[in-house]
Amino acid sequence: MGTVTSFEKTSMVNAAAQKPAENAPDQALKSEILRALGSRSLVLVGMMGAGKSSIGRRLATRLGLNFADADTEIETAAGMTIPEIFEKHGEPYFRAGEARVIARLLDHGPQVLATGGGAVMDQRTRDLIRSKGISIWLKADLDVLSKRTKRRGDRPLVDKMKELLPLREPLYAQSEIVVQSRDEPHDTIVDEIIAVLPKHLNIADGPEKNS
Ligand code: S3P
Repeated sequence: MGTVTSFEKTSMVNAAAQKPAENAPDQALKSEILRALGSRSLVLVGMMGAGKSSIGRRLATRLGLNFADADTEIETAAGMTIPEIFEKHGEPYFRAGEARVIARLLDHGPQVLATGGGAVMDQRTRDLIRSKGISIWLKADLDVLSKRTKRRGDRPLVDKMKELLPLREPLYAQSEIVVQSRDEPHDTIVDEIIAVLPKHLNIADGPEKNS
């Protein structure tokens, strides 16, 4: 689609280079995870307010992976904020660009990739995530999501969250890993993801712990 070529630019963030890892997993476990991941991405999906970007950034730092945020990439590529894209061009234009940006980002694994809340509604995006990534649904209750999204005015669909949630949950539920995002420190959620990764990456019994 010619109208969305401006979404093709890139601005990858190397979270690992920006901040030293805190609570880094055992080196042996980390090496096993990275080896088993190969060029695949850890792809965070879920509703707005689920914590995909903040948890994703921490997860990337802990594993020493690059972090990419699809929403940020779209804004950088379009030279506009998401509300401006919705306002000027409408949601279908945004969705077309979003699908293209995610397809491009998925060619740059391994990494942690945070997707926008509506990304999984696109069948091709779901197929690409399945073939090039490990999907992680940050599941959260509506009251948690509403509380977290209230403060920021940069989400055009925030008022539709209640209607969107039941339409999207069956698709989020197809994710390989489901983690409950709740009022806990983000590092706790990151710990939970790292704890279940070996099983989903077919790492036999996990590496031996030294400590
Ligand atoms: C959207 C979620 C937003 C952003 C856009 C549309 C949605 O991303 O992609 O405002 O449809 O749920 P976050 O989930 O990162 O807020």
